[in-house]
Amino acid sequence: MPRLNKPQIILALDVDTLESAADFVNKLYPKIKIFKVGSQLFTAYGPKVVELIHQKGAEVFLDLKYLDIPNTVSSAVAEAVRLKVKMLTLHISGGKEMIEAAAASARHLAKVSGLKRPLLIGVTVLTSQKASSGEVLKLARQGLASGLDGVVCSAREAAALRKKIKKSFLMVTPGIRTNNSVGDDQKRTATVKEAVGAGSNFLVIGRPILKAADPLKKAEELLGDLYGAGN
Ligand code: C5P
Repeated sequence: MPRLNKPQIILALDVDTLESAADFVNKLYPKIKIFKVGSQLFTAYGPKVVELIHQKGAEVFLDLKYLDIPNTVSSAVAEAVRLKVKMLTLHISGGKEMIEAAAASARHLAKVSGLKRPLLIGVTVLTSQKASSGEVLKLARQGLASGLDGVVCSAREAAALRKKIKKSFLMVTPGIRTNNSVGDDQKRTATVKEAVGAGSNFLVIGRPILKAADPLKKAEELLGDLYGAGN
């Protein structure tokens, strides 16, 4: 069972060069302690980008959204344990067997190697696809019952999931915007306060920080919303 600590901001490192990734980690760590590496950066640079983040002292959220046969996903998860990532994503739609194999692989390797087990976070339905709240709830329940530690969900879904699922689990929420954010492709947005109020544990923030004139100042402002000023 994951421990539910105070909520944290994760920077979505959606950049296209290693230099730019290093630049953001240098600028923002230790204010931001977890950096999300997605498929673009990982496809371009592989484990090098994970090592770079670890060298600075920060932690990695490996967002590769695994979806494949159980053997392939459990092998990929084992590699993620070896890479020492803090958390990773996989698609709950991959099914019970896939999730169970992934969870067993992470637990087993962590036990025999002494490495820390990453948190396994399930993707219910991509925000680019239509889904009813019933479908999201069903997938979340299914994933958590199969061994996941948490789910990715919008702030809007978070409150309902927390209320309806009677078990301790983590919620990772993207689509965070400030009140004065300019419009972009995120449709179901929420502020830091709304997301935390809905029960989210990790807030994934990309463009509001990446595109800010002063990313550190913007991160501090958002952390201020989270913990109060002076953080
Ligand atoms: O720039 P922005 O703050 O919208 O970044 C949000 C991050 O969260 C991006 O890396 C995006 O891929 C990710 N994400 C999302 N919606 C989901 C799952 C992940 O925006 N449902």
